[in-house]
Amino acid sequence: MGNEFEEFRKGYEKAAKYYNLFASNEDIPFYLSFANEFGSPVLDLAAGTGRVSFELARKGFDVFAVENSSAMLAVFREELAKQESSITNRISLHDADMRNFSLGRKFPLIIIPTSFGHALATEEQLALLRCVHDHLADSGIFILDLFPGGRQPEYASFEEPPVDIDGGRTVSRSGIMKSDPLKQILSINLTFTIRDGHTGTVLEEINQKSGAAVVFKREADLLLMLSNLECVEEFGDFSKTPYSSDSGRRILVIRKKE
Ligand SMILES: C[S@@+](CC[C@H](N)C(=O)[O-])C[C@H]1O[C@@H](n2cnc3c(N)ncnc32)[C@H](O)[C@@H]1O
Repeated sequence: MGNEFEEFRKGYEKAAKYYNLFASNEDIPFYLSFANEFGSPVLDLAAGTGRVSFELARKGFDVFAVENSSAMLAVFREELAKQESSITNRISLHDADMRNFSLGRKFPLIIIPTSFGHALATEEQLALLRCVHDHLADSGIFILDLFPGGRQPEYASFEEPPVDIDGGRTVSRSGIMKSDPLKQILSINLTFTIRDGHTGTVLEEINQKSGAAVVFKREADLLLMLSNLECVEEFGDFSKTPYSSDSGRRILVIRKKE
């Protein structure tokens, strides 16, 4: 699917084992509330390490998880191996591409937490939405969580405090984000620094580059139209505040068009 974005494609291979340490879980109650309303099984696209899948399974929902990074899948499988059968029986993990998969069944709820932008080109986004359409039950909903275009600064950097890991070591994460308003791409360069927790000596540094498409409001609306999908409700955050021009997030609740 085109080479233009090749440099961003291996974005999760190098530091998958540290992903959960820095991930925000503010979206979990939001997804649980829709699972309560729409039921199982939930299709979790670009499920990563299973951050959301495991929470859904713990609350009794069956989950099909789709992920295609071997490193993220390895972390997911490691976590699965630690769980009791009551959890593992509810999770079906698929090594598959969210832009081209076929699970042979329909779902009342499909989610794609923080990941739609990894379908970098428009044709990839349409392919992904076609797969969503094919897998969505007629009365089901798809939740599309977007970082709305127009909100990204051209340059931003951040540094997060260190987190303790095993063997008396710490890991900290810093990052540089650059958005290219013409290509509509946000490039994210992350550095994970592993230190001896006592002396502060740097033991390892891992650099990881990923990218996400910046999707503007009208563009998202057009993508849905072209995919025979329609938005029935939209939120500006995970507390279900209505979407407005001040929102940092655009979270769409989507149905199949009649
Ligand atoms: C920001 S992480 C989000 C992981 C998880 N959804 C969460 O919220 O914790 C993005 C994930 O998308 C996955 N991903 C990117 N492109 C993908 C594709 N074409 N098919 C399946 N997964 C993909 C990455 O490997 C990574 O695990």
